Amino acid sequence: MLGVGLYSLSGAYGKKDPCEVKKMLLKAVEFGVDYFDVAPLYGEAEELVGRVLKPYRNKIKVATKGGIAKSGKPDGSYRAIVDGCKASLKNLQTGFIDHFQVHFVDPETPVSETLQGLEELKSQGLIGSYGLGHFSREKIEEYCHLGDPSSILFEASPLNTKEYKKYQDFWREKGLSLMAMGVTGRGFLSGNISRKTTFPAGDIRNRDPLFHPELGEWRLSVLQKLKSVGEEYGKTPIQVAINWVSGLPGIDRILVGPSSWAHLKENLDGLGWEMGERDKEELNGFIQRKNLEKEQISREKARFFLGKQVVGFRDLLFVIETLYSLDLIGEGEAHKFFRKMLQSDEKKEKLEEMRVSICDRYLEKLIK
Ligand SMILES: NC(=O)c1ccc[n+]([C@@H]2O[C@H](COP(=O)([O-])OP(=O)(O)OC[C@H]3O[C@@H](n4cnc5c(N)ncnc54)[C@H](OP(=O)(O)O)[C@@H]3O)[C@@H](O)[C@H]2O)c1
Repeated sequence: MLGVGLYSLSGAYGKKDPCEVKKMLLKAVEFGVDYFDVAPLYGEAEELVGRVLKPYRNKIKVATKGGIAKSGKPDGSYRAIVDGCKASLKNLQTGFIDHFQVHFVDPETPVSETLQGLEELKSQGLIGSYGLGHFSREKIEEYCHLGDPSSILFEASPLNTKEYKKYQDFWREKGLSLMAMGVTGRGFLSGNISRKTTFPAGDIRNRDPLFHPELGEWRLSVLQKLKSVGEEYGKTPIQVAINWVSGLPGIDRILVGPSSWAHLKENLDGLGWEMGERDKEELNGFIQRKNLEKEQISREKARFFLGKQVVGFRDLLFVIETLYSLDLIGEGEAHKFFRKMLQSDEKKEKLEEMRVSICDRYLEKLIK
């Protein structure tokens, strides 16, 4: 059930040492991990897995992603899907990719065209199955209607149950398997990240709304609970989180992305044990309440940020993420805002212009 992802090699969590990652990969295979998830956007991840795991290729499954232009923008065109897959096969030093995922939604390309590429790769025996990365429910439904995706990937952890809820009522009917990422709260549930921790430039946690100071107390309260549950079973908070996500109906795979064997070993030991029924029930209730509380805090803070005269980049991002997670804006619109923000170069006037326009359209919706 546990798969190892190499997103860390993109630098998203600071610079990582490829030698450590190589050691981790070898140990992982030795300990029976048989699923590895990479992407052309994850630095040298494909090449490293191709090189290091080549001798074990028949024992493991390799998943990668496609539908991205060289510029890094989503490109679901037939050409990008087919050419991207062939480049990945080369990087991975293999003739077959077990699972090929469309990384992001490309709003410009019809789904039928992307599917044409995916189906062709499947019928040629170059990929075993295909799945969907960061997709809205509407897009997933469109793919299911026109094609045969086998999985969806989304964030699921005690710190974020929103996405899982979104798909809960339809994955079974569509025959989709569920892959969870973000299970460790991007490392927060290790307990090694305090409110004083600073991340290096380029680390996504500098912008991730989960790490926003306004959610500081809230995050800690979840960590504290997992810690106390774990103490009963001789487990760490990360292990409790992994175990809890593994018990959610429909979850077939948990992807973790550590960069050392020590961290991976801790994660592996999150499986293979069970909480007592009463503890499980109590934890479920706690997580449900905490996620509702998070919505309330986020709603309140988003309103506060929108009312400010000068809003910072991170605060505005928090507002957009909140609007999206509360379903007050759709995915297309959220992406438009994200793109605009990235193009703003964090300039005050541009952020202010966006704040005013978001305020005009959505402030009322944030007041329940
Ligand atoms: N995150 C995404 O946006 C995303 C999107 C699509 C696909 N995926 C796939 O899902 C995989 C998992 O990604 P993720 O970001 O959700 O991974 P993750 O394991 O939840 O987060 C990685 C971060 O958590 C830390 N960490 C993990 N286990 C730890 C432990 N036991 N103790 C202390 N720190 C620990 C890592 O630190 P160290 O580096 O120090 O170990 C790293 O900073 C990716 O590699 C990728 O294949 C992820």
